Amino acid sequence: MTASSPPEQPPTTESHPFLQGLSKHRGAPPTIIVIFGASGDLTARKLLPAIYNLEVDNLLPPDFFLIGFGRKPLSDDDFRSFAQENVAQHSRRDLEDPIWERLGSRIMYHSGNYDDLEAYKAFAERVDKMEDEVGRQFQLLFYVSTPPTVFQPILENLGHSGLSRRHHGSALMSKVVLEKPFGRDLDSARELNGILCDQFDESQVYRIDHYLGKETVQDLLVQRFANSIFEPIWNYHYVDHIQITVAEALGVGSRAGYYNQSGALRDMIQNHTMQLLSLIAMEPPVSNDPEDIRNEKVKLLKAIQPVRLDEEQNDVVRAQYTEGLIGGEKVPGFLQEQDIPQDSSTETYAAIRLSIDNWRWNGVPFYLRSGKRMARRVTEIAVQFKNPPGNLFSDSDKFHLAGNSFVMQIQPDEGATLLLNSKIPGLENRIQPVKMHFRYATTYGSNTPEAYERLILDAMIGDSTLFIRGDEAEASWKLYTPILDHWQASGNKGVETYAAGSWGPTAADKLLWGSKQEWRKIGP
Ligand code: BG6
Repeated sequence: MTASSPPEQPPTTESHPFLQGLSKHRGAPPTIIVIFGASGDLTARKLLPAIYNLEVDNLLPPDFFLIGFGRKPLSDDDFRSFAQENVAQHSRRDLEDPIWERLGSRIMYHSGNYDDLEAYKAFAERVDKMEDEVGRQFQLLFYVSTPPTVFQPILENLGHSGLSRRHHGSALMSKVVLEKPFGRDLDSARELNGILCDQFDESQVYRIDHYLGKETVQDLLVQRFANSIFEPIWNYHYVDHIQITVAEALGVGSRAGYYNQSGALRDMIQNHTMQLLSLIAMEPPVSNDPEDIRNEKVKLLKAIQPVRLDEEQNDVVRAQYTEGLIGGEKVPGFLQEQDIPQDSSTETYAAIRLSIDNWRWNGVPFYLRSGKRMARRVTEIAVQFKNPPGNLFSDSDKFHLAGNSFVMQIQPDEGATLLLNSKIPGLENRIQPVKMHFRYATTYGSNTPEAYERLILDAMIGDSTLFIRGDEAEASWKLYTPILDHWQASGNKGVETYAAGSWGPTAADKLLWGSKQEWRKIGP
């Protein structure tokens, strides 16, 4: 870490000493990635650029093919052009002709309806032929990037066509990668897990939460467990409370239909925010084995107490944005957005207070908030420590003591900040808080891999650490389903408002307990 202001010029070349340690080669076996929802938005903006960048880094196996599977009647060439256009538009690195030629020649398309078993059988025959031609067997990675309404026919037809259980000796050669949502509540999450289990072993299933693919989220475990200074103070003796903020400046945009059915709790809190919470609060795993890590996350989720929903004791606040200013521009309120019903009760902001009933976190409140159209885009975890005991510096006129805090900035300005109290130079004894910063861009440069690059590579290799296990998804839904049921029964009652461009509704302030606790006002 470097104290105070960072050097002005970040390192730009891979010769920087810190960059040399980054792993370059992780071997994946011969693979065919099959993308369902091949012409969808996620494929265009994230999956194709991620695969292109893996090719740039030489991380795709030599025997690699990408096949789009979709309802549109496209030719291989059509899909290749679609892929090329989108890589050019969305890749973090420029599209280079020689690299594209290598990758593009291995991109194909298979047209078929998701509920037509014959299309899957024809696909299996196509794979057999490709295997005969290259003289070796491929692992098949089925990436389901479709709306959840078609999860069931896709998963069942993968099973009924035998595609889900192709073997090489005793090893299963198929995997399925699934995008959220993993259900809408506990019942539907269980139902989806049931369908998955009928066709696949849990070891073949990779449920994506793209937050786990972010570098800074992976770094949480490193910060906590590769540094011995944190563990002794990471508990109720020293921590006053923890705040997790996942704020977006964007509104619902073109996704009004989806978002109105979802809301902030389902869209962000139940999944992304809870992943951050699990990583920051779980016990040390006994090893780096994916199951050991996921076991600890599930244990943590199970230790969270049910939230209180009475009028007197309420742990949750929901709200919608009204008209306001974002970056100096006037933006409409949620109810004025196109395709949002005037009487919608869907929350665009949710805040929640959680208590974890275990030895480490006894009595430490965890405050979570997430919203659209907030003051700025920022995701961070702030660990607020207790004030020092005794009265040595308790004279508030002279000393502006701030409790120490350690803030992990997940995005967009990735890094970590430690807030300490320091004496102001001079003959008087005066104190003020100062910040020690670590910034990824300064230390490592700014062109780090996108979440999907890491996740696709890990799924190919078979490392499930950064994916959600079925019981993990259910444990989180168990906590949130009573809240969703309660909100549904209450209709619009209790839906607060906040101006677009603000930090959320004032009602959320009441969630904070101690007289000194308040939501962080996060500056640029
Ligand atoms: C998605 C949500 O899972 O995450 C979106 O559905 C949200 O509503 C997005 O905008 C945020 O992701 P990121 O990576 O931009 O923070």
